[in-house]
Amino acid sequence: MATQKPLQNLIFEPMRLSDLQQVLQIENECFEDPWSATYFSLSLKRPRSYEYFYVARCEDTVMGYIVFVVLYEEAHILNIAVPTTYQRQGIGKYLLASALDKIQTLDGQEVFLEVAVSNLPAQYLYRQFGFRIYSIRKNYYGRHKDAYLFRKGAPETDAT
Ligand SMILES: CC(C)(COP(=O)(O)OP(=O)(O)OC[C@H]1O[C@@H](n2cnc3c(N)ncnc32)[C@H](O)[C@@H]1OP(=O)(O)O)[C@@H](O)C(=O)NCCC(=O)NCCS
Repeated sequence: MATQKPLQNLIFEPMRLSDLQQVLQIENECFEDPWSATYFSLSLKRPRSYEYFYVARCEDTVMGYIVFVVLYEEAHILNIAVPTTYQRQGIGKYLLASALDKIQTLDGQEVFLEVAVSNLPAQYLYRQFGFRIYSIRKNYYGRHKDAYLFRKGAPETDAT
């Protein structure tokens, strides 16, 4: 009996209101200080032109999501999460690669994101895509919980 690998049927597409329940479950599972249901639902009901909520979907199952903003030539990744049971199967890479492609089509030249200094798995992921530490944000996630600001430039301008 063959178990189908989730990656084979993944599609990258905008998050829908009907995804909310699954997204919130993942959000609550992945983060100590999760985004609220209200924030997600208001963002989906009244989308802002510069804000992008995308999921990696396998049939009706949300396998992960990514949220980013693109303002002029600058993009900022605000959130990325994959349910624990599906981690380490390439879904994070798929989400990030797809978001970076989308950012490129929107003329985003520089991409920033914050990541907890303690979150080594996420940092390894970002480094694989050419992100490097740009600065440190003290107490960004609360007292004594610093974040790195990571930056990735356009390939031709990025020397690091
Ligand atoms: C970060 C996260 C999105 C990665 O998703 P994922 O689907 O597990 O990632 P992938 O399987 O695509 O792995 C991509 C790379 O990330 C790194 N990585 C992911 N999980 C790791 C772990 N537990 N330990 C070490 N490296 C890890 C590796 O470099 C990996 O590449 P490799 O498999 O070639 O070694 C996922 O761990 C997650 O949702 N974490 C909780 C939420 C979170 O921390 N989000 C980031 C906030 S800044």
